Amino acid sequence: MPASTVSTEAETPLAREVADHARRRQALASAPLPLPDRTRVFTISNQKGGVGKTTTTVNLAAALALSGAKVLVIDLDPQGNASTALGVEHRSDTASVYDVIIGDSPLGDVIQASPEAGDLSCVPATIHLAGAEIELVSLVAREQRLRRALDLHLKQMEEPYDYVFIDCPPSLGLLTINAFVAANEVLIPIQCEYYALEGLSQLLKNIELIEKHLNPELNVSTILLTMYDSRTNLANQVAQDVRDHFPQQVLATIIPRSVRVSEAPSYGQSVIGYDPGSSGSLSYLEAAAEIARRGAPIIEGARR
Ligand SMILES: Nc1ncnc2c1ncn2[C@@H]1O[C@H](COP(=O)(O)OP(=O)(O)OP(=O)(O)O)[C@@H](O)[C@H]1O
Ligand SMILES: [Mg+2]
Repeated sequence: MPASTVSTEAETPLAREVADHARRRQALASAPLPLPDRTRVFTISNQKGGVGKTTTTVNLAAALALSGAKVLVIDLDPQGNASTALGVEHRSDTASVYDVIIGDSPLGDVIQASPEAGDLSCVPATIHLAGAEIELVSLVAREQRLRRALDLHLKQMEEPYDYVFIDCPPSLGLLTINAFVAANEVLIPIQCEYYALEGLSQLLKNIELIEKHLNPELNVSTILLTMYDSRTNLANQVAQDVRDHFPQQVLATIIPRSVRVSEAPSYGQSVIGYDPGSSGSLSYLEAAAEIARRGAPIIEGARR
C-alpha cells in the first residue's frame, strides 16, 4: 500500500476515534483513584426531567466501584429507574427506601447488592414511594428521615461506604429535600440543550435555603454537562455558558450523547458494564476520576 493511502486512512474519523479511545483507556488504566477519608454523600438533583440524573448516578457509581471504592446508590425516585439500571429487584412487594422513610425500617434491611462489578449496592425504590411525598407531610422530622437512617447505618458499618449517591425525582418536593438534608455534596447534571439554565436559579435558591435552615454542610460541588452533541453550535454554546457561570464546579469531562448509554439500562447494566470501550463509558470513567481526584470540599465543622 502506498504511504499516501496509509496516511489518509489514519486520518479518517473512525481511525481518529479508535486512536482517541485507546489513548483515553490507557490514561484511565495508568493511575489508580484515591479513596476519600470519609464517606462522600452526593445528591444528584435537577428538577428538570430527563437531564441525565439517573444515568449519571448509575454510571458514576459503577465507575467508582470498578476503581475499588465501596459505593451505595439510594434510589429516591418512585420511577425506580436507578434500581432497574443497577439490576436490582424493585417489584411492589420488595423492601425499599419507602420502608425506611415512612416505615422506620433500618437502611441495612433494604440494601441489595448490584450485579455490577465491584462493591456496589443499591437501596431500591418501588411504586409505593409515589405516595410518600404526601405521607411525609404529617410525619415527625419529615425532612430528616433519610439522613437519620443513613447516619445510623454508616455508624454501624465496620467499613463504611466511600461514596453514597442519591438519585432524586424531577421535583423539589419532600423527597428531594430529604436527599439534600442527607447529603454533603450536590451534583447537578445539565443537559447541553436550549433551556438548560432555566430553573437552575430556583434549584440553587432551594439548596441555599436547605443550607441555611437544615444542613449547613451542603455544597454544590459538581456540575456535569450531559448529552453533548459536538456537531451542534447550540451544545457548544450551552456548555460555554455553564462554564462561565460555574467555573469551579463544572467538570472538564463532558458526557456525549451516545446510543450505548441509553441502551444499557434495558439490560439492567451501567454503560461501563454493558460496553466498557464505548465513548459513554470512557466519559463516565473520566468524570468519576475527576470527582475522586478533586476530593470533597472542605467544610468547617462538618458533622460527617
Ligand atoms: N449521554 C446520553 N446519551 C444518550 N442518551 C442518554 C444519555 N444520558 C441519558 N440518556 C437518556 O435520556 C433519557 C433521560 O435520562 P435519565 O433517565 O438519566 O434522566 P433523569 O434526569 O434521571 O430523568 P427523570 O427526571 O425522569 O428522572 C433516558 O432515556 C436515558 O437513557
Ligand atoms: Mg431519573
